[in-house]
Amino acid sequence: LPVVNAAGTGTAGAAAGAAELDPVGIAKFTQKMPLPPVLTPYLNTGTTSYYRMTLKEATKEIVPGIRTPLRTFNGSFPGPVIKAESGRRVVIKQTNSLAVPTSIHLHGAHVPQDSDGAPMDLIAAGGGTKTYTYPNTQPHANLWFHDHAHHMESENVYRGLTGTYILTDDIERRLRLPSGQYDVPIALRDARFLENGELIYQMGDFMKRNVIMANGKAWPYFEVAARKYRFRLTNTSNQRFFDLHLADNSELVQIGTDGGLLPAPHRTETVLISPGERADVVIDFSRYPVGTVIELRNKEIPPYEPADAVSKVIQFRVTRTAADHSVVPDRLRTLPALGPASVNREFDMKMDEQPGGTGAYINGKTYDMDRIDTEIAYGATEIWTVTNSNKLAPHNFHMHLVQFRVLERNGKPVTSGPETGLKDTVPLKPGETVKVQATFDGYRGTYVYHCHLFDHGAMGMMANMRIS
Ligand code: C2O
Ligand code: CU
Repeated sequence: LPVVNAAGTGTAGAAAGAAELDPVGIAKFTQKMPLPPVLTPYLNTGTTSYYRMTLKEATKEIVPGIRTPLRTFNGSFPGPVIKAESGRRVVIKQTNSLAVPTSIHLHGAHVPQDSDGAPMDLIAAGGGTKTYTYPNTQPHANLWFHDHAHHMESENVYRGLTGTYILTDDIERRLRLPSGQYDVPIALRDARFLENGELIYQMGDFMKRNVIMANGKAWPYFEVAARKYRFRLTNTSNQRFFDLHLADNSELVQIGTDGGLLPAPHRTETVLISPGERADVVIDFSRYPVGTVIELRNKEIPPYEPADAVSKVIQFRVTRTAADHSVVPDRLRTLPALGPASVNREFDMKMDEQPGGTGAYINGKTYDMDRIDTEIAYGATEIWTVTNSNKLAPHNFHMHLVQFRVLERNGKPVTSGPETGLKDTVPLKPGETVKVQATFDGYRGTYVYHCHLFDHGAMGMMANMRIS
């Protein structure tokens, strides 16, 4: 296989001395997939829910029988779930007890600059605090939060700093989608371990991250009733794309994406989520007799070679029957009509592909936090054409502040399928081009856009836009 991004600039220190854990030897489907805890506000007023979280070190059993030190929100891995409502503010005071600075970004959220968790807006290590205010003025969406401290985010996220933020509203509530215990958030990712349980973090070594986790457990099983479930999937990986399917290739019904529900359900055999993206997927287990065991599997995207371990993800076990009054209607929501755009821009995503190259660029430039790359007039609607001009490396494209619409992929209009919803991150396989449209309103300020493959962002595939 050709060398794709062989950057060796990580912190591999721990790798010396202990042997690497071989994923082949890890027992598959012997641990139950846990649900992350739902965080309770310490105060609710008429308009606002107040939370506190502490970033701290914790040790968890990810691989059966061994303990892994992590950087966590509140000692949870993955981090807790916040349940928010459109029109009701959430205020979170974060205390950083870690030995490294952090910056907490609410991915996909429409927020003022000072609560965006920008790369330079750090919470000091060793007890620094910051209070983030989330106005929740946008419609329902499956958001998530993660560290974004410049040059540190890739390792901080890899070591555990992610959590789920589910924003709901009346549009979503009045549908009778699977709810309660049948509505299950799942954070998917990969990692690489030493035999002593420590994570190995080395920038750019994505080809070796061969342990797959769901909700913080390596290859878990999940017991289900023979009825419909809603799974809110987030790809929290550093670089791995998940191209998911059921082992029998039976139907997955994708009902939502980054910015909430799709206009109509997308019935499919496969769901692709690149790092940072979300997919909201209904699986109807009523087609299986009780006693059936069925795997959710992953197919490696080119140019990566298929490997058995990473093709397994979760094993579903149908253990009982249950009543099901949930419905997936043929129409889920109506999105606002696309207005006319007044500005067109082009963006080129590229990284060094030669062995030893470590550069990563947008329009030929590496990220400089003091440089404004794109000046945007407040209120403008713009069309951005974004191209991955690498031959081997996949990328994706994420913008802060806005949910955008995908107009075209590789020159073809997007009129059906999973990209018809509101998006904040789009995959870009080698050579691909997407055209997206966004309206920059609500807040003025400086926000980033970047490749959401965390190592690539940390290598510099990031830029600033200023809305004024
Ligand atoms: Cu989820 Cu700027 O990132
Ligand atoms: Cu990239």
